[in-house]
Amino acid sequence: MAEERRVCVTGAGGFVASWLVKLLLSKGFVVHGTVRDPIDPKNVHLKRLENAANLKLFKADLLDYESLSAAIAGCEGVFHAACPVPLGKTLDPEADMVRPAVDGTLNVLKACSEANVRRLVLVSSVSAVLWNPNWPFDKIVDENCWSDKKFCRETERWYDFAKTIAEEKVHEYSKSSGLDVVVVCPPVIFGPILQPTVNTSSKYLINFLKGKRVSLMTYDTLYLVDVRDVADALLLVYEKPEASGRYICSSYCIETCDFLGKLKSMYPHFPYPDCPYEAKPYHQLSSEKLKQLGWTYMTIEESIRDNVEDFLEKSLLDVN
Ligand SMILES: NC(=O)c1ccc[n+]([C@@H]2O[C@H](COP(=O)([O-])OP(=O)(O)OC[C@H]3O[C@@H](n4cnc5c(N)ncnc54)[C@H](OP(=O)(O)O)[C@@H]3O)[C@@H](O)[C@H]2O)c1
Repeated sequence: MAEERRVCVTGAGGFVASWLVKLLLSKGFVVHGTVRDPIDPKNVHLKRLENAANLKLFKADLLDYESLSAAIAGCEGVFHAACPVPLGKTLDPEADMVRPAVDGTLNVLKACSEANVRRLVLVSSVSAVLWNPNWPFDKIVDENCWSDKKFCRETERWYDFAKTIAEEKVHEYSKSSGLDVVVVCPPVIFGPILQPTVNTSSKYLINFLKGKRVSLMTYDTLYLVDVRDVADALLLVYEKPEASGRYICSSYCIETCDFLGKLKSMYPHFPYPDCPYEAKPYHQLSSEKLKQLGWTYMTIEESIRDNVEDFLEKSLLDVN
């Protein structure tokens, strides 16, 4: 009989983690999923996944070490996805962003060491990569590029600030303790949603399709990846013994106006906003390291189609 493989996924009910849990269950893993409230209806989809009998939910908060430790005990690996992903301004950056992202990650690291976990996979972000004003535009951004914390603080990019510190702490901890850690850095993630509530990055596209010139439209250039490709990347770096360090996980880099044009050509009937931008210089982002490991991704048209059809089916694009 095949040996049982047991892993923990933090923030299991979230957008990315739900797809990862689904993938892990389909591959025969037993999954410990942490959620803040197991009986909250927003987590109901988890119990409806195929092979959900192999999913055990643990009530855990990132700032409560004991609760995390109980969920991680007995697991060979951990996928740390839980983190606040705010929409718009953060009122209390320290309490709402920095503490859960940084102290929460430190708690996960400590619990992984205590449980002798084989490998921790951290869901970081290009937020910890891209905000570097000293990186020239003619130089491709790869895993050597780090966001500048001072720049993030001065520009009040608190999510980017917190993700950068959290990822730094993970690499430092790995070096000093020997814990095997691999990090995946995706850009804006889109694609169909499994959870019943709408997460922040999906709201971007919904607003865009409703003609609101907000969020995504504030950037001249979009870096995008489909949520199912992120789940694949997380499992890939977990399974490949040779995986190490950080991996940028970005499929498309597209100017906002070109993205709008693509949407319009596929779905002409939405009330799209005008595109006010002229092309400005932007960084090319390389996922070459991840591709070398065997990562592949779907086409942007496939992602857009599945995403929009999913939103339509769930009536998320109705005008209200
Ligand atoms: N979506 C993107 O575009 C994107 C891009 C790059 C990286 N990421 C990273 O991907 C990961 C997942 O993001 P997502 O898009 O899936 O967001 P999401 O749907 O909002 O999921 C975030 C999860 O974190 C949990 N969480 C937040 N604060 C917590 C706390 N104090 N204790 C325990 N759990 C907590 C949430 O639990 P509750 O449901 O209880 O609130 C939720 O399950 C995050 O690390 C994010 O930084 C996301």
